[in-house]
Amino acid sequence: MPLPKLKIGDLTAAHPIIQGGMGIGVSLSGLAGAVAKAGGVGIISCAQIGYQDPLFERAPFKANMRAITSEYQKAKEIAGSGGIVGFNIMCATFKYESYVKRCVEVGADLIISGAGLPIHLPELVGTAKTKIAPIVSSAKAAKVILRTWAKRYDRTADLVVVEGPQAGGHLGFKYEDTGMAPEVMDEEFTKILDEVAVYEEKFQQKIPVVFAGGVFDRSDIDRYLALGASGVQIASRFVVTEECDAPESYKKMYLNASQKDIEIIKSPVGMPGRALHNDFTERTKVEERIPIAKCRNCLSLDHCDRKTIPYCISEMLLNAVTDKPQQGLIFAGGQVHRLNKITTVPQLMAELTLDPL
Ligand SMILES: Cc1cc2nc3c(=O)[nH]c(=O)nc-3n(C[C@H](O)[C@H](O)[C@H](O)COP(=O)(O)O)c2cc1C
Repeated sequence: MPLPKLKIGDLTAAHPIIQGGMGIGVSLSGLAGAVAKAGGVGIISCAQIGYQDPLFERAPFKANMRAITSEYQKAKEIAGSGGIVGFNIMCATFKYESYVKRCVEVGADLIISGAGLPIHLPELVGTAKTKIAPIVSSAKAAKVILRTWAKRYDRTADLVVVEGPQAGGHLGFKYEDTGMAPEVMDEEFTKILDEVAVYEEKFQQKIPVVFAGGVFDRSDIDRYLALGASGVQIASRFVVTEECDAPESYKKMYLNASQKDIEIIKSPVGMPGRALHNDFTERTKVEERIPIAKCRNCLSLDHCDRKTIPYCISEMLLNAVTDKPQQGLIFAGGQVHRLNKITTVPQLMAELTLDPL
């Protein structure tokens, strides 16, 4: 059976596959553009998006603002006509509002926002064509967001991303629930679909729901479609592609990982995160606080208490994509140990969709 297309309002992706946003520097224009060109939805991560700009060390916010423009233009050029490219913006980001507004200004097709509740997202996007999607991990979060958006802004989500406990990066679960059985998450997923259905009815519009976290092959995609998903969001598999924007050393960490290398770490954001074991994660076990070399204002003050955080998340994510992957934080999904070769985005999309290249 061919996979269905993914419709997000008036946008249509040939394949129901969204490439998950990956910061810092893992999903930029190279990866997002290639995924969009191959018929999926490409997502650029806004997390310190301008880190390669010479201006970054002096003025990170300014560098990030201009990188939103340049990365989007590059991704759209690669994607070609009809290619869908969006941004991932974490709610915990310092000056979150400015990031959203800049993405809207550049004409982003879509904004996906999680790591917190994107309560004000509709107000920031206004009447622009940019589609909006919250990331949720529970029916309760879906209810709070959709109810508030309906009441305050008389609008609803264009798409909902449900992130399960097997995802890479920050997880919307308690530490003890990060190993949750798939069947338990399936039940929660069904409850989220029910919650979304209330707003589909109220606004008389289809709200596609996609599942993320540990989706590895075609059988996983078929499984979530059978549960009622309109598609999936996949991240880790796209890291080991030639087009992925992370350096070779980062991709090698993925290829060399075994199951015992997958760890649940404590993020300064106050959420657990799934990452690869390395010198950095070892260090967090023996050092109560890793001194902050430099604050680049990545998180809002209510998400980062500079005086008490165990380490600086920006510094560690930046180490990961520079020349020190052992000294950095390498986020990865729960199936990362199954990756053993570098591929290309068209090859991976052909494998997942069963459409010939
Ligand atoms: C390296 C890496 C970085 C990530 N960064 C972000 C991010 O900046 N914002 C976000 O919302 N999700 C982030 N995620 C989560 C992904 O977008 C995605 O939802 C999740 O990893 C899907 O699970 P999978 O990796 O098993 O496919 C990240 C994941 C990885 C692996």
